[in-house]
Amino acid sequence: MLSLFSLQLWSWMCPSLTILYSAEFWGDIAKDFFWKTKHTGQFLDYNFDVTKGEIFVKCMGGASTNICYNLLDRNVHEKKLGDKVAFYWLGNEPGDEMMVTYRELLQRVCQFANVLKSQGVKKGDCVSIYMPMVVELVIAMLACARIGAIHSIVFAGFSAESLCERILDSQCSLLITADGFYRGDKLINLKLLADEALRKCREKGFPVEKCIMLKHLSKETEETALGSQSPPAKRSCPDLQVPWNPDVDLCWHTLLLGASDECEPEWCESEDPLFILYTSGSTGKPKGVLHTVSGYMLYTATTFKLVFDYQPEDIYWCTADIGWITGHSYITYGPLANGATSVLFEGLPTYPDVSRMWEIVDKYHVTKFYTAPTAIRLLMKYGSEPVQKYKRESLKVLGTVGEPINPEAWLWYYNVVGEKRCPIVDTFWQTETGGHVLTPLPAATPMKPGSATFPFFGVVPAILNESGEELEGPSEGYLVFKQPWPGVMRTVYGNYQRFETTYFKKFPGYYVTGDGCRRDKDGYYWITGRIDDMLNVSGHLLSTAEVESALVEHESVAEAAVVGRPHPVKGESLYCFVTLSEGVMYNHTLEAQLKKQVREKIGAIATPDYIQNAPGLPKTRSGKIMRRVLRKIACNERDLGDISTLADASVVEQLFQNRCTTAV
Ligand code: PRX
Repeated sequence: MLSLFSLQLWSWMCPSLTILYSAEFWGDIAKDFFWKTKHTGQFLDYNFDVTKGEIFVKCMGGASTNICYNLLDRNVHEKKLGDKVAFYWLGNEPGDEMMVTYRELLQRVCQFANVLKSQGVKKGDCVSIYMPMVVELVIAMLACARIGAIHSIVFAGFSAESLCERILDSQCSLLITADGFYRGDKLINLKLLADEALRKCREKGFPVEKCIMLKHLSKETEETALGSQSPPAKRSCPDLQVPWNPDVDLCWHTLLLGASDECEPEWCESEDPLFILYTSGSTGKPKGVLHTVSGYMLYTATTFKLVFDYQPEDIYWCTADIGWITGHSYITYGPLANGATSVLFEGLPTYPDVSRMWEIVDKYHVTKFYTAPTAIRLLMKYGSEPVQKYKRESLKVLGTVGEPINPEAWLWYYNVVGEKRCPIVDTFWQTETGGHVLTPLPAATPMKPGSATFPFFGVVPAILNESGEELEGPSEGYLVFKQPWPGVMRTVYGNYQRFETTYFKKFPGYYVTGDGCRRDKDGYYWITGRIDDMLNVSGHLLSTAEVESALVEHESVAEAAVVGRPHPVKGESLYCFVTLSEGVMYNHTLEAQLKKQVREKIGAIATPDYIQNAPGLPKTRSGKIMRRVLRKIACNERDLGDISTLADASVVEQLFQNRCTTAV
């Protein structure tokens, strides 16, 4: 590992050599995968400069492969890992557990791939998946990958409206969902939400013809209970309502009856699309980030292996949801590419009690553990006793992702959870980057609490000032990347212009992350947070525009402005200023309606924490809302800086006086 760190430092200090060396580095790694046809020409071809033409990244042109084949068939047949456990699945309720081996996973993926084919899904078609954290979610995504279909997973915490928006954008022909699931003691009627989304799609002129539903909560019921008219019986979950539309709905289990467990993979070109994953965009409309087959496979496999120092006997656990990129890259693709055994957990860190995580760590002898700062801060609130009830002797590496980790949380993670034995890998990356881009290598990179340290191999960061000049040495500014790595996104699905504008227009020649960054005297990178109109709530990106538009859709709201306010657990919370329509009075009923409206439009993660009645908003003379001033009001900071451009300064004092001090 130490020599890897020297290589990491070297690659950072000699960026001009990195593209050459990186082709060799990745070329060597590619030898360990199966290629139906070999690549020809340049390993990584690209243009990052809008002034020189279209932006593109191509990795391993000419090669063809299948990622599902590499993750499953190769591990079962070539590496003889058929009997190895791929996933220990743990349900929301303690004791609800099962496991699946690599051989079983391969068979079940093939069966479901045949089901998809029998429903007319072909290479290049898009399939939306809206499921809880169950093994069948992994099966559905890999079945798509096996037949060359593009999966678009929508986090099951998103609302029907958000699902509808994503279905329309990806023009998918089929939706896969489940009856419902529990999050802690809360029942989520997922099928109801899926139906609502499909109804909205139909109203907008896009009828999705088929919806495959997995019986998750009602799984022990007889297949026959699901007749053409009747919903499935609800023996295990009496409160679950499962409406059934025989014209559209299909039962996962019924479709599997008789499906063969052999399915020849579809050989895909390197740059064929693998999946779309939506991420918030600063204009409010989510962007469908597109990843392609070969580069993503190499990148997730390698970052997983090196960043977690993966060893064959490891039991790895990433607590993210597969509905986010962390789950795509570091629950499904990276670990399976390495033949790893993972824990797949459906539940919450606090249910039934705040020791749940550590109990699981001990029970399964978890060695590598990957979570988010928000989870660490949440557990930290309960002190060290719930952690120390369990031994955690098996732990070797602790990872974090999703937002800057404050040193206090880092130290608690290191001292209490890892008992000073386990290196912490603070991994900085994005949906767009596909995998880790700034990260320590465990036990090799000297750590600094709160710093994501150095770039991964082949990644060349730079820090730019407002005029786009590269800053040397200790400095602070825009974090950008100068060249691609295999796993970087290829475009915004169906919207190349948006791809170019969002990531490449501001500073030609660079990929712009949207994050601020500081480099210290030792060359360590410290992410300072988003510098666009994006908020990071519990590690999830939300655009202020998206929340604002959900608020103004309410008939009583004339205008809305949303800013982030620091939150001890979530990182940031949503502080919303609303200007009401003429004659409308502000009261608690309206406040509750607005909160509900945002939840219904976007999902629970976007629930406003504070809503303030704002008869006026601070605007410049040209009518632009001064969010900088609103952020100060939300935090009750009187030092406002230069406000000479404000059209009416009295508005500010009024807002300070009516500040919200308690969350709604
Ligand atoms: O602001 C950065 C923050 O999360 C953003 C990416 O969000 P998303 O695409 O949803 O992917 C999250 C999981 C990879 C980044 O632009 N972020 C992510 N990891 C870190 C981070 N900020 C600081 N430190 C990190 N380790």
